[in-house]
Amino acid sequence: MRKVITYGTYDLLHEGHINLLRRAKELGDYLIVGVTSDSFDKDRGKLNVRNNVLERVAAVRKTGYADEIIIEDYVGQKIDDIQRYDIDIFAIGSDWEGKFDYLSEYCEVVYLDRTEGISTTKIKTDLQ
Ligand code: CTP
Repeated sequence: MRKVITYGTYDLLHEGHINLLRRAKELGDYLIVGVTSDSFDKDRGKLNVRNNVLERVAAVRKTGYADEIIIEDYVGQKIDDIQRYDIDIFAIGSDWEGKFDYLSEYCEVVYLDRTEGISTTKIKTDLQ
């Protein structure tokens, strides 16, 4: 069984997130989605997250693509998760191109093209 993992905040869940999750799931048989905790986002400077972690987890669950949802809560957790869950593929959007190459020591790293023209940041700007 090929196990895939991906991570994100998934605030104000939108089509770009749904496309990313669908394509990540298509890379293997079992998809684990790491949703950032509220405190982890604050610590990394993401201060304006609208949905709390429970709301964001519920939104990801509702897409139907995640076989398992975990919480990302600390720096360095990705390596621990890849080893703990015996992950074959780490997938993430192309806005992170190159940033996670260091994980290729532990599993395959795949950058998926982002959906153009939509982001949580844009939705928040449009709401203002
Ligand atoms: N993503 C994507 N296409 C988009 C927006 C996001 O493929 N248009 C992907 C990201 O590359 C990441 C995952 O969705 O792999 C979660 O992204 P996240 O940072 O939660 O969403 P953004 O909309 O990019 O949020 P922000 O604008 O706050 O950075």
